[in-house]
Amino acid sequence: MKRTYTPPEVITERCTGCGMCVEVCPSFVLDMVNEKASAVRGEWCIGCGHCGAVCPVEAVLHEAIAVEKGPELGPGPATPPEVLLLLLRERRSVRVYRDEPIEKEVLERILDAGRYAPTGRNSQNVHYVVLKSPEEIAQLREMTLAFYEKIFAQVRGRVGAFFLNLFVGRRMVEYLRESIPKVDHAKELIEQGEDCLFYHAPAVMVVHAESWDSCSAFNCAVALYNCSLMTHTLGVGCCFNGYLESAINNGRRIKKWLGIPRDHRCFGAMTLGYQEVKYQQLVGRDPAKVMWR
Ligand SMILES: Cc1cc2nc3c(=O)[nH]c(=O)nc-3n(C[C@H](O)[C@H](O)[C@H](O)COP(=O)(O)O)c2cc1C
Repeated sequence: MKRTYTPPEVITERCTGCGMCVEVCPSFVLDMVNEKASAVRGEWCIGCGHCGAVCPVEAVLHEAIAVEKGPELGPGPATPPEVLLLLLRERRSVRVYRDEPIEKEVLERILDAGRYAPTGRNSQNVHYVVLKSPEEIAQLREMTLAFYEKIFAQVRGRVGAFFLNLFVGRRMVEYLRESIPKVDHAKELIEQGEDCLFYHAPAVMVVHAESWDSCSAFNCAVALYNCSLMTHTLGVGCCFNGYLESAINNGRRIKKWLGIPRDHRCFGAMTLGYQEVKYQQLVGRDPAKVMWR
């Protein structure tokens, strides 16, 4: 459902006519009228709150700002680049979790970080499913493994692989075929009680959004990434899970079981748990693949 926003209200007496709110509005809502800002196309407001946030004299009132007053902002960015870079480098996939549930309040703080992610047209269309019951996680694991059991049975056979080719493409079938030894190894470990899929995580998080919206994939990915950064600061580890994401989108049963609407697609999933291991070293990455023009 399309969200509607109350347009900004300009307090004309306070407005100094600097025009900054007009300049930052991405949706042409404000214009200068008689040297004062005015919300002339209020119906186009996407609720980003930039207009109110930029006003130096609090002359532009916007619901996005009134709702959540944050801490006072200094003149420059609050986070120095080296601190941010360290956070980005410290965040690693965590696959060894303490056998301990994550409190709901902690999960809520993690979800809160997702809310501040950017979304195309400020749609804020990211939906979450959070599983924290061991029984439900076990059920999800079973369904996901059953999905891959079927897929790999197809990959192993010539006819199955041919039909799979039509749906997922040749390169994917090749990739799956190359994965067979690893999958067989994982299967053995799973039979011995190892959880090679969710790593015995006490919580699983899934993000989904409307399939028609071309921004949904990015919106969900960034929101989930925000959450992953927050987990790190809280001593919680997480690991994105592409296997689960794919199983949700290609195995109707799982999607339905999770309560994800038919017209939505899953654009990310991760396991979470209190971190059992601490990485002692940072790692390097490949140089950026850049084309300077
Ligand atoms: C889209 C995506 C899907 C991933 N899927 C899985 C997964 O199914 N299982 C897993 O153990 N790790 C998964 N990962 C984690 C990657 O293996 C990991 O990010 C990568 O090896 C780099 O390590 P780092 O996250 O610790 O920096 C996934 C990561 C991304 C971004």
